[in-house]
Amino acid sequence: MKGIILAGGLGSRLAPLTRITNKHLLPVYDKPMIYYPIEALIKAGITDIMIVTGGNHAGDFLRLMGNGKDFGLKHLNYTYQEGEGGIADALSLAEYFADGEPVCVILGDNIIERNIVKAVRDFKEQKTGAKILLKEVPDPERFGVAQIEGDRLVSIVEKPKNPRSNLAVIGIYLYDGRVFDIVKTLKPSERGELEITDVNNAYVQDGTMTWEMLDGWWTDAGTFESLLRASVLVAQTGANNE
Ligand code: G1P
Repeated sequence: MKGIILAGGLGSRLAPLTRITNKHLLPVYDKPMIYYPIEALIKAGITDIMIVTGGNHAGDFLRLMGNGKDFGLKHLNYTYQEGEGGIADALSLAEYFADGEPVCVILGDNIIERNIVKAVRDFKEQKTGAKILLKEVPDPERFGVAQIEGDRLVSIVEKPKNPRSNLAVIGIYLYDGRVFDIVKTLKPSERGELEITDVNNAYVQDGTMTWEMLDGWWTDAGTFESLLRASVLVAQTGANNE
């Protein structure tokens, strides 16, 4: 399985911090934000990793991480997203890298207390389709929200005004090689982006999406509040633990 970290975007919710750097290079406690998703992948045994970045500071990723020596890697792959096409558009840039293999996709601002070892193992057994991870949150309207009936995932709604549950779809996704064909069928949403929630709903509709609850805390770090929370949580417990 290959790993893809999506680290583009303008980070406009964090302006002016993001005027002179990329959001994913900002500090979360004692490391740049992007270190956490890289470590999460490596912990799960995924070492063939591509970073999709964009914007005005892409060169700084290379200056910071080079070939990934800090992580014990021999090589890191990079690609560049032109413009602001959204998460699913960023993902499409990794098609040639994935080369038909299953992928684990992580949003570069998602940080977890524990690990995704079990989810990755389960998905390898599942072989086709996709898997998402869910976490109970107090503010589901900020996220993709899963509607579950019994054990069945009925649908995912992106940032609903009236959420049907408190189950956020976290930014760690497992997909089979079909994901890139699905992205090609998407139409831009109201915010003008190709939405990862639309990718996920395509798998839900064809009955090949599975889900698991994530153990331990999860946070994004894309707003001032969540960036602060991420630093405090990492300082308290560390991230990517056993
Ligand atoms: C994105 C996804 C959303 C997901 C969230 C997790 O939101 O669109 O479905 O729950 O990441 O961090 P965004 O960060 O673009 O607001």
